Amino acid sequence: MKPKIYITRRVPDAILEKISSVCEVRMWDKEDVPVPRDILLKELKDADGVFSMLTENIDKEALDQAENLKVIANMAVGYNNIDVAEAKNNGIIVTNTPGVLTETTADLTFALLMTTARRIVESSAYLRNGEWKTWSPMQLTGQDIYGANLGIIGMGRIGQAVAKRAKGFDMNVCYYNRSRKPEIERDLDISYLDFDSLITESDFICILVPYSPDVYHLIGQKELEKMKENAILVNTARGGIIDETALYDALQNNVITAAGLDVFEEEPISVDHPLLTLPNVVTLPHIGSASVNTRYKMADLTAENLIKTLSGKEPVTPV
Ligand code: DGY
Repeated sequence: MKPKIYITRRVPDAILEKISSVCEVRMWDKEDVPVPRDILLKELKDADGVFSMLTENIDKEALDQAENLKVIANMAVGYNNIDVAEAKNNGIIVTNTPGVLTETTADLTFALLMTTARRIVESSAYLRNGEWKTWSPMQLTGQDIYGANLGIIGMGRIGQAVAKRAKGFDMNVCYYNRSRKPEIERDLDISYLDFDSLITESDFICILVPYSPDVYHLIGQKELEKMKENAILVNTARGGIIDETALYDALQNNVITAAGLDVFEEEPISVDHPLLTLPNVVTLPHIGSASVNTRYKMADLTAENLIKTLSGKEPVTPV
């Protein structure tokens, strides 16, 4: 008998065919609407495997229903939507998609840094709104990227890929990470700083740390007040790492200069969110890994993890 798989969002046909060739598949067939919680819980009841997205909260309640579940294959590198400890207690393997999205997410992180520094979105709106009447010396002036201090919080794969890009722009790159990485410091010509020094000395701060309860509101009012007045904060990790109320106040009162955000505490962010009223914030709808190639690779790796695990082999990228 083929193992039963539930896929929580419409995936590309090629991926669906790959899984369907060896599994019995049910899928939430919509692209822009997440599977409702009650349907997810019902589907999990007899599934052997689930192909999940970061939009599904696979918590204890969900796991308690899932009597046959053997594998949760999450199509994301982050897996804070899954209660991994509880899954492990129930003998369920959890997998994610590291590696395949590194460069694409680093590209987007750097794009946000540049867009925010040079006020690209604001400048484009200025032109389209008919406000551009003349050229003038200090009009829409932003911050230099070359030669600036970049502080990276989290020196994993994506942190390293961002550091490489930054070196190409002649930035001075420092990082903070739970453990020091001397080999990477040597290879990339970057230096380690303790957390307080990094947030105090950086012109740009990129948050690239995996989300866990330990880093909830890592950046709050106290940390924002320690930053330079010209600091630009970029977050492409998870929204919960920044206290958004404190960030709004800091941006509104020029405690720091600007922020580039791809992730939010609540996603999707409400269009009435105060942050969206500020000209010095660039906001994106969680598109860090969103290139066609990378999303295919993520979906394919997720499918491989499911199929391997359910055929008794080692998954490619277990958590
Ligand atoms: C992830 O993989 O965790 C990203 O947030 C989405 O690609």
